[in-house]
Amino acid sequence: MKTSVLVTGGAGYIGSHTLVEFLAAGYHPIVLDNFCNSSPGVLRRVEALTGRSVTWREGDVRDASVLDALFSLAREQGAPVECVVHFAGLKAVGESVAKPLDYYDNNVYGSIVLLQAMERAQVRRIVFSSSATVYGEPRSLPYTEDHPLAPTNPYGRTKAMVEAMLADWCAADPGRTAVNLRYFNPIGAHASGQIGESPRGTPNNLFPYITQVAIGKREKLLVFGNDYPTPDGTGVRDYLHVSDLADGHVKAVEYARRARPGCFAFNLGTGRGTSVLELVKAFESTTGRTVPYEILGRRPGDVAQMWADPSAANELLGWRASRSIEDMCRDGWRWQSQNPDGYV
Ligand SMILES: NC(=O)c1ccc[n+]([C@@H]2O[C@H](COP(=O)([O-])OP(=O)(O)OC[C@H]3O[C@@H](n4cnc5c(N)ncnc54)[C@H](O)[C@@H]3O)[C@@H](O)[C@H]2O)c1
Repeated sequence: MKTSVLVTGGAGYIGSHTLVEFLAAGYHPIVLDNFCNSSPGVLRRVEALTGRSVTWREGDVRDASVLDALFSLAREQGAPVECVVHFAGLKAVGESVAKPLDYYDNNVYGSIVLLQAMERAQVRRIVFSSSATVYGEPRSLPYTEDHPLAPTNPYGRTKAMVEAMLADWCAADPGRTAVNLRYFNPIGAHASGQIGESPRGTPNNLFPYITQVAIGKREKLLVFGNDYPTPDGTGVRDYLHVSDLADGHVKAVEYARRARPGCFAFNLGTGRGTSVLELVKAFESTTGRTVPYEILGRRPGDVAQMWADPSAANELLGWRASRSIEDMCRDGWRWQSQNPDGYV
């Protein structure tokens, strides 16, 4: 019998890549997405890419009735949901500062409604999209999972709050399991060029900005700060290929199904830092495109450098990021150049 997983936010950037990995691993993913930052066209691409049909419903994770209906649907189909993979949420740090209540409503309240529906449906496993943002200013690097959590913005605080809530939820019932995946910086796209990141408006993150400059949609890249205490003065992040990150979710669901119940956290990163200018250079040499850039002052709230210690995920989940920065650049460029306007 197939194993069903409910994937909230499954049409998004990371969710869509994860669907491909779940389908390849023989799971039956059921997607709930309100398409506030994606479109149903993404799911059609996933179907074309995998040759498999995807069960999905348009709806909001804060709507208990939609959740109840999806858990019932899975039961009626003979494959009850064994685990929820919870991507749905808002993710722009700057916007979270301007509109904090939208973030608490979507990310925290949405998670409460989801957990309540899981209780009604007696689903006791969840994999949650957390973020390296929960750590805040590094006291030591690489970040290990026991680094104190001190997020510096509302977005990061919503993630830390949901992690705390999941710890309490697990403590209240010895049969429950929560796996918090603390993502570092996913970039790139599926190697087919069929799915990728399609940000609305000005990209919030570096990599889609680079690809949009390379394709001529934007004049130049703005680099915020070149006087950080890093080798070339620009900010350092731990970039990982989105397909490696997607694979981490299959490994996390497998872990949740086999491990003793409890609440766990894992860093998903490569363990290597790359500066802004190193990423630009790698992109240029991999793709043959030039990326003009201008150096501006530091952006308030940006951390100079961060990278993961992924050894817990390596050892306990059996997961390792295997793709290189060059793979990330090549695959991200293939997506951007084949789909200059994203999903249209
Ligand atoms: N992309 C990153 O760099 C990054 C890093 C760390 C953590 N995360 C987290 O990972 C998750 C996925 O990120 P992503 O980059 O794929 O973002 P995304 O915006 O591409 O995907 C999120 C999806 O959730 C949907 N959604 C949002 N609110 C919803 C709601 N209330 N009900 C139903 N659907 C809803 C959106 O339409 C979208 O399809 C998010 O929780 C994000 O905070 C992302």
